[in-house]
Amino acid sequence: LTNGVALTPPMGYNSWYYWYDGITEENMKAVADMVVTNGLKAVGYEYINLDDGWAGYRDSNGVMVANSKFPHGMKYLADYIHSKGLKIGLYTVFGPTTCAGFPGSMGYELLDAQTYASWGIDYVKYEGCSFPNPLSVQEEKCFQMRDALMATGRPIVFTMSTGPVLSWFPDAMNSWRYTGDNDVNWESVLYHIDIVAQTPGMAGPGHWNDADVLNIGRGWSTKTEDKAMFSMYCMLTSPLLTATPFPSQLDVLTNAEAIAIDQDVAGIQGICVRTNGELQVWCKPLGSANSNVKAVALFNRGTNAANITATWSDLGFSNGLVSVRDLWSKVDEGNFQTNYTANVPGHGVKLMKMILQPPPPPGTNYLSDLNWVF
Ligand code: GLA
Repeated sequence: LTNGVALTPPMGYNSWYYWYDGITEENMKAVADMVVTNGLKAVGYEYINLDDGWAGYRDSNGVMVANSKFPHGMKYLADYIHSKGLKIGLYTVFGPTTCAGFPGSMGYELLDAQTYASWGIDYVKYEGCSFPNPLSVQEEKCFQMRDALMATGRPIVFTMSTGPVLSWFPDAMNSWRYTGDNDVNWESVLYHIDIVAQTPGMAGPGHWNDADVLNIGRGWSTKTEDKAMFSMYCMLTSPLLTATPFPSQLDVLTNAEAIAIDQDVAGIQGICVRTNGELQVWCKPLGSANSNVKAVALFNRGTNAANITATWSDLGFSNGLVSVRDLWSKVDEGNFQTNYTANVPGHGVKLMKMILQPPPPPGTNYLSDLNWVF
Protein backbone atom coordinates (compact mmCIF):
# COMPACT_ATOMS: atom_id res chain seq x y z
CA LEU A 1 0.00 0.00 0.00
CA THR A 2 1.42 3.35 -1.03
CA ASN A 3 0.54 5.53 1.92
CA GLY A 4 4.02 6.60 2.97
CA VAL A 5 4.26 4.30 6.01
CA ALA A 6 5.70 0.85 6.73
CA LEU A 7 8.52 1.40 4.22
CA THR A 8 10.34 -1.15 6.36
CA PRO A 9 8.45 -3.85 8.31
CA PRO A 10 6.62 -2.34 11.31
CA MET A 11 8.20 -3.10 14.70
CA GLY A 12 6.43 -3.01 18.02
CA TYR A 13 4.18 -4.88 20.36
CA ASN A 14 0.82 -6.68 20.18
CA SER A 15 -1.38 -7.15 23.26
CA TRP A 16 -3.39 -10.24 22.27
CA TYR A 17 -1.12 -13.23 22.85
CA TYR A 18 -0.36 -12.45 26.47
CA TRP A 19 -3.32 -10.48 27.82
CA TYR A 20 -6.04 -11.62 25.40
CA ASP A 21 -9.20 -9.56 25.98
CA GLY A 22 -8.20 -8.83 29.58
CA ILE A 23 -5.91 -6.00 28.42
CA THR A 24 -6.41 -2.72 30.32
CA GLU A 25 -5.34 0.91 30.02
CA GLU A 26 -2.83 0.37 32.84
CA ASN A 27 -1.34 -2.67 31.07
CA MET A 28 -0.94 -0.66 27.85
CA LYS A 29 0.72 2.23 29.67
CA ALA A 30 3.06 -0.20 31.42
CA VAL A 31 4.00 -1.77 28.08
CA ALA A 32 4.78 1.65 26.59
CA ASP A 33 6.94 2.49 29.62
CA MET A 34 8.71 -0.87 29.33
CA VAL A 35 9.43 -0.46 25.62
CA VAL A 36 11.26 2.77 26.44
CA THR A 37 13.06 1.67 29.61
CA ASN A 38 14.25 -1.76 28.49
CA GLY A 39 15.81 -0.55 25.26
CA LEU A 40 13.27 -1.84 22.74
CA LYS A 41 12.42 1.66 21.53
CA ALA A 42 16.09 2.47 21.00
CA VAL A 43 16.43 -0.38 18.47
CA GLY A 44 13.25 0.47 16.56
CA TYR A 45 10.19 -1.00 18.33
CA GLU A 46 7.62 1.70 17.83
CA TYR A 47 3.98 0.57 17.48
CA ILE A 48 2.20 -0.33 20.72
CA ASN A 49 -0.78 -2.22 19.35
CA LEU A 50 -3.95 -2.78 21.32
CA ASP A 51 -5.65 -5.86 19.89
CA ASP A 52 -9.17 -7.14 20.56
CA GLY A 53 -10.92 -6.27 23.83
CA TRP A 54 -11.08 -2.46 23.96
CA ALA A 55 -14.34 -1.60 22.17
CA GLY A 56 -17.32 -0.74 24.37
CA TYR A 57 -20.46 0.75 22.80
CA ARG A 58 -21.56 3.33 20.24
CA ASP A 59 -22.81 6.69 21.53
CA SER A 60 -25.91 8.39 20.12
CA ASN A 61 -23.86 9.62 17.14
CA GLY A 62 -22.56 6.13 16.40
CA VAL A 63 -19.06 6.98 17.62
CA MET A 64 -17.30 4.03 19.28
CA VAL A 65 -16.52 4.47 22.97
CA ALA A 66 -13.90 2.29 24.68
CA ASN A 67 -15.08 -0.09 27.42
CA SER A 68 -14.54 0.34 31.15
CA LYS A 69 -11.06 -1.21 31.06
CA PHE A 70 -10.02 2.03 29.32
CA PRO A 71 -11.66 4.55 31.68
CA HIS A 72 -10.00 7.63 30.17
CA GLY A 73 -10.76 6.68 26.57
CA MET A 74 -8.57 6.07 23.56
CA LYS A 75 -7.45 9.64 22.99
CA TYR A 76 -5.95 9.67 26.49
CA LEU A 77 -4.12 6.38 25.84
CA ALA A 78 -2.90 7.59 22.43
CA ASP A 79 -1.62 10.82 23.99
CA TYR A 80 0.20 8.84 26.69
CA ILE A 81 1.86 6.53 24.16
CA HIS A 82 2.78 9.47 21.90
CA SER A 83 4.30 11.26 24.90
CA LYS A 84 6.77 8.36 25.10
CA GLY A 85 7.80 8.93 21.47
CA LEU A 86 5.89 5.81 20.39
CA LYS A 87 2.87 5.09 18.18
CA ILE A 88 -0.40 3.33 18.93
CA GLY A 89 -2.35 0.65 17.07
CA LEU A 90 -5.95 -0.54 17.38
CA TYR A 91 -7.83 -3.64 16.28
CA THR A 92 -11.26 -3.89 14.68
CA VAL A 93 -13.19 -6.19 12.32
CA PHE A 94 -15.32 -5.68 9.23
CA GLY A 95 -18.03 -7.87 10.76
CA PRO A 96 -20.47 -6.63 13.43
CA THR A 97 -18.63 -8.42 16.27
CA THR A 98 -14.91 -9.00 16.92
CA CYS A 99 -13.47 -12.48 17.34
CA ALA A 100 -13.69 -12.06 21.12
CA GLY A 101 -17.24 -10.72 21.03
CA PHE A 102 -16.75 -6.94 21.21
CA PRO A 103 -18.48 -4.51 18.80
CA GLY A 104 -17.00 -4.41 15.28
CA SER A 105 -17.00 -1.82 12.51
CA MET A 106 -19.61 -3.15 10.06
CA GLY A 107 -21.68 -0.24 8.77
CA TYR A 108 -19.46 2.31 10.57
CA GLU A 109 -16.26 2.04 8.54
CA LEU A 110 -16.02 5.71 7.54
CA LEU A 111 -16.95 6.99 10.98
CA ASP A 112 -14.55 4.59 12.71
CA ALA A 113 -11.66 5.61 10.46
CA GLN A 114 -12.36 9.27 11.25
CA THR A 115 -12.68 8.52 14.96
CA TYR A 116 -9.38 6.62 15.00
CA ALA A 117 -7.64 9.50 13.23
CA SER A 118 -9.12 12.00 15.72
CA TRP A 119 -7.78 9.89 18.60
CA GLY A 120 -4.33 9.83 16.96
CA ILE A 121 -4.24 6.14 16.02
CA ASP A 122 -1.22 5.20 13.89
CA TYR A 123 -1.90 1.54 13.01
CA VAL A 124 -5.08 -0.44 12.36
CA LYS A 125 -5.36 -4.25 12.36
CA TYR A 126 -8.47 -5.43 10.55
CA GLU A 127 -10.07 -8.85 10.19
CA GLY A 128 -13.26 -10.62 9.23
CA CYS A 129 -14.72 -12.34 12.31
CA SER A 130 -18.54 -12.55 12.28
CA PHE A 131 -18.77 -11.12 8.76
CA PRO A 132 -22.02 -12.54 7.39
CA ASN A 133 -21.12 -12.40 3.68
CA PRO A 134 -18.81 -14.75 1.80
CA LEU A 135 -15.07 -14.23 2.11
CA SER A 136 -15.02 -13.02 -1.52
CA VAL A 137 -16.51 -9.74 -0.28
CA GLN A 138 -13.43 -9.14 1.90
CA GLU A 139 -11.68 -7.40 -0.99
CA GLU A 140 -14.40 -4.76 -1.08
CA LYS A 141 -14.39 -4.40 2.71
CA CYS A 142 -10.65 -4.11 2.86
CA PHE A 143 -10.45 -1.42 0.17
CA GLN A 144 -13.32 0.41 1.86
CA MET A 145 -11.38 0.69 5.14
CA ARG A 146 -8.13 1.45 3.32
CA ASP A 147 -9.81 4.35 1.53
CA ALA A 148 -11.52 5.56 4.69
CA LEU A 149 -8.22 5.61 6.57
CA MET A 150 -6.37 7.32 3.73
CA ALA A 151 -9.14 9.94 3.43
CA THR A 152 -8.42 11.04 7.01
CA GLY A 153 -5.05 12.38 5.86
CA ARG A 154 -3.34 10.78 8.87
CA PRO A 155 -0.54 8.31 8.02
CA ILE A 156 -1.95 5.04 9.39
CA VAL A 157 -0.43 1.59 8.89
CA PHE A 158 -3.22 -0.70 7.66
CA THR A 159 -2.93 -4.46 8.18
CA MET A 160 -5.24 -7.42 7.94
CA SER A 161 -5.30 -10.84 9.50
CA THR A 162 -7.06 -13.03 6.99
CA GLY A 163 -6.74 -15.90 4.58
CA PRO A 164 -6.06 -17.13 1.98
CA VAL A 165 -3.45 -14.87 0.40
CA LEU A 166 -4.74 -12.95 -2.62
CA SER A 167 -2.99 -10.93 -5.31
CA TRP A 168 -4.63 -7.62 -4.35
CA PHE A 169 -3.20 -7.61 -0.79
CA PRO A 170 -0.12 -5.44 -1.52
CA ASP A 171 -2.39 -2.73 -2.98
CA ALA A 172 -4.78 -2.78 -0.10
CA MET A 173 -2.60 -3.17 2.96
CA ASN A 174 0.77 -2.48 4.53
CA SER A 175 0.94 -6.07 5.81
CA TRP A 176 -1.25 -9.13 5.90
CA ARG A 177 -1.35 -12.35 7.80
CA TYR A 178 -2.71 -15.49 6.22
CA THR A 179 -1.58 -17.82 8.97
CA GLY A 180 -3.52 -18.99 11.99
CA ASP A 181 -2.61 -17.55 15.39
CA ASN A 182 0.91 -18.15 16.61
CA ASP A 183 1.07 -20.77 19.29
CA VAL A 184 3.70 -21.47 21.91
CA ASN A 185 5.53 -24.44 20.39
CA TRP A 186 8.19 -25.18 17.77
CA GLU A 187 5.71 -26.64 15.25
CA SER A 188 3.89 -23.32 15.23
CA VAL A 189 7.15 -21.49 14.52
CA LEU A 190 7.83 -23.78 11.54
CA TYR A 191 4.25 -23.44 10.28
CA HIS A 192 4.40 -19.63 10.31
CA ILE A 193 7.77 -19.56 8.57
CA ASP A 194 6.64 -21.99 5.87
CA ILE A 195 3.43 -20.10 5.13
CA VAL A 196 5.11 -16.72 4.80
CA ALA A 197 7.85 -18.32 2.70
CA GLN A 198 5.25 -19.12 0.02
CA THR A 199 4.87 -15.52 -1.18
CA PRO A 200 8.27 -13.77 -1.16
CA GLY A 201 7.40 -11.82 -4.31
CA MET A 202 4.56 -10.01 -2.54
CA ALA A 203 6.82 -8.35 0.03
CA GLY A 204 8.43 -4.95 -0.45
CA PRO A 205 8.53 -1.43 0.98
CA GLY A 206 4.99 -0.57 2.15
CA HIS A 207 3.62 -4.14 1.86
CA TRP A 208 4.78 -7.12 3.91
CA ASN A 209 3.96 -10.75 4.65
CA ASP A 210 3.30 -10.90 8.39
CA ALA A 211 4.41 -14.07 10.23
CA ASP A 212 2.33 -13.06 13.30
CA VAL A 213 3.76 -12.07 16.67
CA LEU A 214 7.08 -13.16 18.14
CA ASN A 215 6.27 -15.48 21.01
CA ILE A 216 9.68 -14.90 22.54
CA GLY A 217 10.22 -14.79 26.28
CA ARG A 218 7.05 -16.65 27.17
CA GLY A 219 8.63 -19.64 28.85
CA TRP A 220 7.99 -22.30 26.20
CA SER A 221 11.21 -21.93 24.26
CA THR A 222 14.93 -22.31 24.70
CA LYS A 223 17.31 -19.46 23.93
CA THR A 224 18.37 -21.35 20.79
CA GLU A 225 14.73 -21.48 19.62
CA ASP A 226 14.17 -17.80 20.39
CA LYS A 227 17.22 -16.82 18.35
CA ALA A 228 16.11 -19.09 15.52
CA MET A 229 12.62 -17.65 15.44
CA PHE A 230 13.90 -14.09 15.53
CA SER A 231 16.51 -14.79 12.84
CA MET A 232 13.94 -16.32 10.50
CA TYR A 233 11.45 -13.46 10.97
CA CYS A 234 14.28 -11.08 10.02
CA MET A 235 15.15 -13.20 6.96
CA LEU A 236 11.45 -13.12 5.97
CA THR A 237 11.20 -9.32 6.36
CA SER A 238 8.23 -9.93 8.66
CA PRO A 239 6.91 -7.20 10.92
CA LEU A 240 8.58 -7.66 14.33
CA LEU A 241 5.80 -7.45 16.89
CA THR A 242 6.66 -8.89 20.27
CA ALA A 243 3.90 -10.46 22.33
CA THR A 244 5.44 -10.25 25.77
CA PRO A 245 5.04 -7.11 27.85
CA PHE A 246 8.04 -7.87 30.04
CA PRO A 247 10.37 -9.84 27.82
CA SER A 248 12.86 -12.09 29.47
CA GLN A 249 14.68 -12.41 26.17
CA LEU A 250 15.66 -8.80 25.63
CA ASP A 251 19.06 -9.79 24.31
CA VAL A 252 17.30 -11.61 21.47
CA LEU A 253 14.70 -8.93 20.73
CA THR A 254 17.29 -6.13 20.73
CA ASN A 255 19.95 -7.68 18.48
CA ALA A 256 20.48 -4.62 16.29
CA GLU A 257 22.48 -6.51 13.66
CA ALA A 258 19.64 -9.02 13.18
CA ILE A 259 17.08 -6.21 13.15
CA ALA A 260 19.09 -4.47 10.41
CA ILE A 261 18.49 -7.54 8.22
CA ASP A 262 14.73 -7.25 8.73
CA GLN A 263 14.80 -3.48 8.22
CA ASP A 264 17.05 -3.40 5.16
CA VAL A 265 15.78 -0.61 2.89
CA ALA A 266 15.54 -2.80 -0.21
CA GLY A 267 12.90 -4.88 1.58
CA ILE A 268 13.66 -8.10 -0.29
CA GLN A 269 12.19 -11.16 1.44
CA GLY A 270 14.72 -13.95 1.98
CA ILE A 271 14.12 -17.32 0.37
CA CYS A 272 15.16 -20.89 1.05
CA VAL A 273 17.83 -21.76 -1.52
CA ARG A 274 18.57 -25.33 -0.40
CA THR A 275 16.75 -27.98 1.62
CA ASN A 276 18.24 -31.27 2.73
CA GLY A 277 15.72 -32.99 4.99
CA GLU A 278 15.36 -30.76 8.04
CA LEU A 279 18.40 -28.65 7.13
CA GLN A 280 17.96 -25.48 5.13
CA VAL A 281 19.99 -22.62 3.67
CA TRP A 282 18.24 -19.23 3.39
CA CYS A 283 19.49 -16.14 1.59
CA LYS A 284 18.37 -12.50 1.60
CA PRO A 285 20.13 -9.90 -0.57
CA LEU A 286 20.76 -6.62 1.25
CA GLY A 287 20.62 -3.22 -0.42
CA SER A 288 19.52 -4.45 -3.85
CA ALA A 289 18.50 -7.66 -5.60
CA ASN A 290 21.92 -8.35 -7.13
CA SER A 291 23.88 -7.18 -4.12
CA ASN A 292 27.16 -8.74 -3.09
CA VAL A 293 26.04 -8.29 0.51
CA LYS A 294 23.67 -10.95 1.75
CA ALA A 295 22.11 -12.22 4.95
CA VAL A 296 22.44 -15.98 5.17
CA ALA A 297 20.70 -18.31 7.62
CA LEU A 298 21.61 -21.95 8.18
CA PHE A 299 18.40 -23.32 9.65
CA ASN A 300 18.20 -26.65 11.50
CA ARG A 301 14.50 -27.49 11.85
CA GLY A 302 15.19 -30.87 13.46
CA THR A 303 16.21 -31.81 16.98
CA ASN A 304 19.81 -32.99 16.47
CA ALA A 305 22.81 -30.77 15.81
CA ALA A 306 24.03 -31.06 12.23
CA ASN A 307 26.48 -29.55 9.76
CA ILE A 308 24.89 -27.28 7.16
CA THR A 309 26.78 -26.05 4.09
CA ALA A 310 26.00 -23.00 1.99
CA THR A 311 27.71 -22.90 -1.40
CA TRP A 312 28.44 -19.68 -3.26
CA SER A 313 26.34 -20.90 -6.17
CA ASP A 314 23.35 -21.46 -3.81
CA LEU A 315 23.81 -17.95 -2.48
CA GLY A 316 24.31 -16.31 -5.89
CA PHE A 317 27.90 -15.18 -5.26
CA SER A 318 30.30 -15.29 -8.14
CA ASN A 319 33.51 -17.13 -7.25
CA GLY A 320 35.79 -15.29 -4.88
CA LEU A 321 36.44 -14.57 -1.27
CA VAL A 322 33.42 -13.96 0.93
CA SER A 323 33.69 -12.47 4.42
CA VAL A 324 31.47 -13.95 7.11
CA ARG A 325 30.16 -12.26 10.25
CA ASP A 326 28.05 -14.16 12.78
CA LEU A 327 25.21 -11.83 13.80
CA TRP A 328 24.59 -13.51 17.17
CA SER A 329 28.16 -14.00 18.44
CA LYS A 330 29.17 -10.75 16.63
CA VAL A 331 32.36 -12.47 15.50
CA ASP A 332 34.01 -11.78 12.13
CA GLU A 333 35.01 -15.27 11.07
CA GLY A 334 37.26 -14.27 8.17
CA ASN A 335 37.12 -14.91 4.44
CA PHE A 336 35.95 -18.13 2.84
CA GLN A 337 36.12 -19.58 -0.66
CA THR A 338 33.49 -21.58 -2.54
CA ASN A 339 31.34 -22.52 0.47
CA TYR A 340 30.79 -22.16 4.20
CA THR A 341 29.88 -24.92 6.70
CA ALA A 342 28.78 -24.65 10.33
CA ASN A 343 27.48 -27.04 12.93
CA VAL A 344 24.01 -25.81 13.89
CA PRO A 345 22.18 -27.02 17.03
CA GLY A 346 18.73 -28.59 16.76
CA HIS A 347 15.99 -25.91 16.45
CA GLY A 348 18.81 -23.45 15.78
CA VAL A 349 19.86 -20.89 13.20
CA LYS A 350 23.30 -19.60 12.34
CA LEU A 351 22.58 -16.07 11.10
CA MET A 352 25.32 -14.32 9.13
CA LYS A 353 26.13 -11.37 6.98
CA MET A 354 28.28 -12.35 4.01
CA ILE A 355 30.06 -9.92 1.72
CA LEU A 356 31.77 -10.83 -1.56
CA GLN A 357 35.15 -9.14 -1.44
CA PRO A 358 36.32 -7.06 -4.41
CA PRO A 359 38.92 -8.85 -6.53
CA PRO A 360 42.43 -8.01 -5.33
CA PRO A 361 44.44 -5.58 -7.46
CA PRO A 362 46.78 -7.15 -10.02
CA GLY A 363 50.12 -8.19 -8.55
CA THR A 364 48.68 -9.03 -5.11
CA ASN A 365 50.65 -11.62 -3.18
CA TYR A 366 47.69 -13.85 -2.33
CA LEU A 367 49.35 -15.92 0.36
CA SER A 368 50.45 -13.00 2.49
CA ASP A 369 47.76 -10.39 1.78
CA LEU A 370 44.59 -12.39 2.18
CA ASN A 371 43.14 -14.29 5.05
CA TRP A 372 42.44 -17.62 3.40
CA VAL A 373 40.38 -20.16 5.25
CA PHE A 374 40.12 -23.70 3.88
C1 GLA B 1 -7.97 -13.53 15.79
C2 GLA B 1 -6.60 -13.04 15.35
C3 GLA B 1 -5.72 -12.76 16.56
C4 GLA B 1 -6.40 -11.78 17.48
C5 GLA B 1 -7.79 -12.31 17.85
C6 GLA B 1 -8.58 -11.30 18.65
O1 GLA B 1 -7.88 -14.79 16.38
O2 GLA B 1 -6.00 -13.97 14.51
O3 GLA B 1 -4.48 -12.25 16.15
O4 GLA B 1 -6.53 -10.53 16.84
O5 GLA B 1 -8.56 -12.62 16.69
O6 GLA B 1 -9.86 -11.76 18.99
